[in-house]
Amino acid sequence: MAGSGNVQRGLEDVIALESQICFIDGKQGRLIYRGYDIRDLAARSTFEEVAYLLWYGHLPSPAELTELRARLATLRRVPEALGETIDRMPKTAHPMDVLRTAVSALGISEPEEAGPGASAIGGAQRLTALIPAILGRFHRRRTGGKPLSPRPELSHAAYLVEALVGRAPTELEARAIDVALILHADHELNASAFAARVTASTLSDLYSAVTSAVGTLKGPLHGGANERVMELLDEIRTVDRVEEVVRAKLARRERVMGFGHRVYKVEDPRATILRDWSRRVGEEKRDLHYFDLLRRLEEVVHREKGLYPNVDLYSGAVYSLLGIPHDLFTPIFAASRIAGWTAHVLEEYQDLRLIRPTARYVGPVDLVYGSPAVRG
Ligand code: SDX
Repeated sequence: MAGSGNVQRGLEDVIALESQICFIDGKQGRLIYRGYDIRDLAARSTFEEVAYLLWYGHLPSPAELTELRARLATLRRVPEALGETIDRMPKTAHPMDVLRTAVSALGISEPEEAGPGASAIGGAQRLTALIPAILGRFHRRRTGGKPLSPRPELSHAAYLVEALVGRAPTELEARAIDVALILHADHELNASAFAARVTASTLSDLYSAVTSAVGTLKGPLHGGANERVMELLDEIRTVDRVEEVVRAKLARRERVMGFGHRVYKVEDPRATILRDWSRRVGEEKRDLHYFDLLRRLEEVVHREKGLYPNVDLYSGAVYSLLGIPHDLFTPIFAASRIAGWTAHVLEEYQDLRLIRPTARYVGPVDLVYGSPAVRG
């Protein structure tokens, strides 16, 4: 019978393919993009350089970086057909549903550069440039603001902030968002990247693959956790209530969002960096409310469950300080991970193999039509 091996639920520890994009050392807590440690990249590079690195396998020369920046800037304008689609969406829609629908609609209105094949790099850059504008258009409409014309001179991070909050960020804010975008850009075969590769492995197009990925990232066990973390902090409200609220959640066998990871057995290195940035931005704003709650939350969850924070614990504290509403946090994750998703799709196109695991069938066989079904 097919599937004679052991069942690995959730494909835990199953090596599905070889990749040159990202390496995670879960024991040491190291994350590497194309050979570079993200601590080095977070300290010294920009999101545009990291996107280039993920797509092309090497960091850009100054001329290549200038060319990429110019291309992304020209692509920031929302095509008219797409703008009309976004404007017809209900203002109460979740931004992740808006993004998933917009990506799918873009595959209809801008079908070129969608692959399958190397041409998909064009679609990858178009999506990377447009996601902040898509989110900004929807958010400003639902809050009664006018769509902003994207300023080509802004860095990608500054353009993302201005699109969402309607003002230019401070230098520290822009750098904090740039670092957050670097940290979220890829993470090996996480669920949403895997969903994108499964779609691409059928020779489907880039927009279909990214639509699969956006729908997958929305789940609270994956990208949606950062929004749930902030809901928990708003439920807790004060540092002295952290212990009672968390212990009650754990007693109900509920998950505390922002903690634990399928691969990291120590602290997620991205959480380490984001903790520091949430402190730095909080100090600039003289508002360490969320930071103090999160530090106490870490102490209690680690003592009670031995769990470490993951990337989703501190990201929302940074975004909140910039005035970004909680339901835009996972879309910001997507605005970064689009670089990794599309790098995985391009790699799949280059070395294609239909992804189709098997299942062990444990249901009945040999039933006869009309005979009384055996009740399980
Ligand atoms: C991301 O894959 C990636 O790389 C994802 C990501 C990326 O960059 O793409 O890193 C981004 O998705 C980060 C994770 C964000 N999600 C959350 O913060 C949701 C809360 N975390 C958990 O649901 C959980 O830790 C997972 C889903 C992240 C990982 O779960 P696993 O590997 O399937 O572990 P498990 O569910 O088997 O749990 C093992 C034990 C269980 O205890 P027992 O039932 O055996 O007693 O640990 C417990 C779990 O109950 N546990 C938690 C917990 N996480 C695990 N208990 C309370 N709170 C948690 N957060």
